Amino acid sequence: MNESKKYGILFVCLGNICRSPAAQAVLQRMVDERGLADRFLIDSAGTGGYHIGDLPDKRMRVHARPRGYELTHRARRVQSYDFEDFDLIVGMDAANVDDLCRLAATIEQQDKVVMMGNYIRQFPNYDYVPDPYYEGSEGFELVLDLLEDACDNLLNQIIQQNHITK
Ligand code: 4NP
Repeated sequence: MNESKKYGILFVCLGNICRSPAAQAVLQRMVDERGLADRFLIDSAGTGGYHIGDLPDKRMRVHARPRGYELTHRARRVQSYDFEDFDLIVGMDAANVDDLCRLAATIEQQDKVVMMGNYIRQFPNYDYVPDPYYEGSEGFELVLDLLEDACDNLLNQIIQQNHITK
């Protein structure tokens, strides 16, 4: 890997106010804890535009905080330049992945799109991160559990495959 080039990861969900900003915070902390902050560019965006400029959903912030995550991202919509700026674009569910593949301009850009569920190991009943928007507290806790599991595996894989060191 080019020493000066950061590895870019963009997390994507529908609204960019629940799952993807939480994923961004979870992975950012893991990267910070491993002393790799200057090796990664981590961001999030939504396929929908209903919440542009908003902070993450209050319920997501309330559940993330006791785990040590302060969610300060402002919602934005996925843009065509994201497919150039980021190395990996991670959809939270199958609809996100379908939308992202439609937005990609080339096969190479489509190849950057992966599903977060591919990295879930400890929850065999989940191969995606479910939308918590119309769920209760358990839905938000589940999202955080799934994201902590998946981010750990995602980060290990990226570090290995791209020979990333401090
Ligand atoms: P997210 O959750 O995709 O995880 O940010 C949602 C947020 C808002 C809506 C749906 C899902 N909404 O319909 O407004």
